[in-house]
Amino acid sequence: MPNSLFRKKSIDKILADVASGFSDAEHSGVHLKKELRVKDLTLMGIAAVVGAGIFSTIGEASFYGGPGVSILFILTAVTCGFSALCYAEFASRIPVAGSAYTYAYASFGELIAWIIGWDLLMEYAIGNIAVAISWSGYFVNLLEGFNIHMPVYLTMDYLSAFKAHEQVQQLTASGQLTQITADLKQAAEAWATAPGSGSFKLIANIPALLIVVAITYLVYIGIRETKKATNAMVFLKIAVVIAVIIIGFFYVTPANWHPFLPNGFSGVMKGVSGVFFAYIGFDAISTTAEECENPRRDLPRGMVYSLVICTVLYVLVALVLTGMVNFKELQVADPLAFVFGRVGLNKISYVISISAVIATASVLLIFQLGQPRIWMSMSRDGLLPKAFSRIHPKYHTPSFSTIVTGFVVAVPALFMNLTEVTNLTSIGTLFAFVLVCGGVLLLPKEAGVKGRFKMPYINSKFIMPALFIAGVLVFNKQFMSLFSGDDIHKNFPYFLFVILAAALTVASFIKNLSLVPVLGLLSCFYLMAALEYESWIRFLVWLIIGLVIYFSYSYKNSVLAKQSN
Ligand code: ALA
Repeated sequence: MPNSLFRKKSIDKILADVASGFSDAEHSGVHLKKELRVKDLTLMGIAAVVGAGIFSTIGEASFYGGPGVSILFILTAVTCGFSALCYAEFASRIPVAGSAYTYAYASFGELIAWIIGWDLLMEYAIGNIAVAISWSGYFVNLLEGFNIHMPVYLTMDYLSAFKAHEQVQQLTASGQLTQITADLKQAAEAWATAPGSGSFKLIANIPALLIVVAITYLVYIGIRETKKATNAMVFLKIAVVIAVIIIGFFYVTPANWHPFLPNGFSGVMKGVSGVFFAYIGFDAISTTAEECENPRRDLPRGMVYSLVICTVLYVLVALVLTGMVNFKELQVADPLAFVFGRVGLNKISYVISISAVIATASVLLIFQLGQPRIWMSMSRDGLLPKAFSRIHPKYHTPSFSTIVTGFVVAVPALFMNLTEVTNLTSIGTLFAFVLVCGGVLLLPKEAGVKGRFKMPYINSKFIMPALFIAGVLVFNKQFMSLFSGDDIHKNFPYFLFVILAAALTVASFIKNLSLVPVLGLLSCFYLMAALEYESWIRFLVWLIIGLVIYFSYSYKNSVLAKQSN
């Protein structure tokens, strides 16, 4: 493989480019506005994190894991904590907008940087499609509460309606009428009432489109407006989550917490994707590095503070939720509103639905903000066309990228059924975390710079071998079971994990690696391995498409390629 695939941009060069405002025609010295401080960053972190995960996917995770899902929230938080420290280390050393993409450029070189940039698009764009669809669901419910009824075929996607139609026909033909749930009936009604003929029917999720358009407009007109909107939304949703915890606490029946692990630890691990999805977002604030007053100090704090606050809230919500009703009832799309309705507090249930609309809108906002900034960074490096890094002369935002982002999210949100997207978003994000943790291990040592965050160094020389041996002793049965069963190929991610753990243990012993990034890398990879095999396949397909674009456009147009000619 040619060395040029791993050509790197030095940290000094990255910082000098940003400071000089990329003095070509597209940028002409126009900078992003420096508006953000630690409070804003913490609130933005919470804005990005608390959303569809805690208002929605926690339901399914609790259904599988029972009350023990709260352990998964802690495990996932620890994993995210390691990654947050690695992000923080990078963000304080390379405070530019590209986030993990730029960090990879400095540590692994161009090819991996491209892969991670492409991967982050998956985290933000596909994640946002899912959030937009989830927003639409809550919003339509809310309208119903006001007695406003939209035609069902304008509130959902084509595929769900088609599948529901087929299923209802089958169930009716076989006389299993009791199996036709209200949700199924409604989706089938969308198919029956939609204009069009045969298979050509107008079925589209209009609210999902409209919210993406509105949010994109807000992000387009300025970071200050975005900040104000974010702050207001965050205070409201945090107040509601705290109210859920406090009021819900009085309705807890401790008997619901027994048994704590009704389906064992494997049941708990079935919720990995949904629970991890709930934490995604604290990393997104690193894309605002060029809009921070003091990014070296404030970005790390913002990330860590938002993660800690969300963890406390999540664990408490999980305990309250599984304490209020039996876990078996929780496989619903709106679990928080559901449990309050279930104990007769309908008004509170309604308030929760309203705040879910607001909470998911603020997640959309932060992801819509983050994605154009990554595109902007990739374009500055020549990996995407120049227009992607154009900054609006009046609003000081990456204008073209913001509009493209709007299209990329809004159009699929109209038509796609994205239950699997949670999985895809989670795997993409975990992969980014793996590379960020790995990147920290490759960063050149730097003498302490005053005022910047520095990750604590703990030597992994003996700790890692000890952990590895303990792991082998405790989990040897699970390891041996990987070699049996019908679908051995589906255990492939776990094999990779074991090989990686062994290799990192050896490297730690020889090279005295820093413990935090090593644990971060391994724990994120473990969560990846716990995701469905199908998600791995889809993820690989996504990466292959990215590589085709890299080799047909970006490799030749890279700024580094031009410099070396
Ligand atoms: N963490 C974000 C949410 O739960 C993605 O909506």
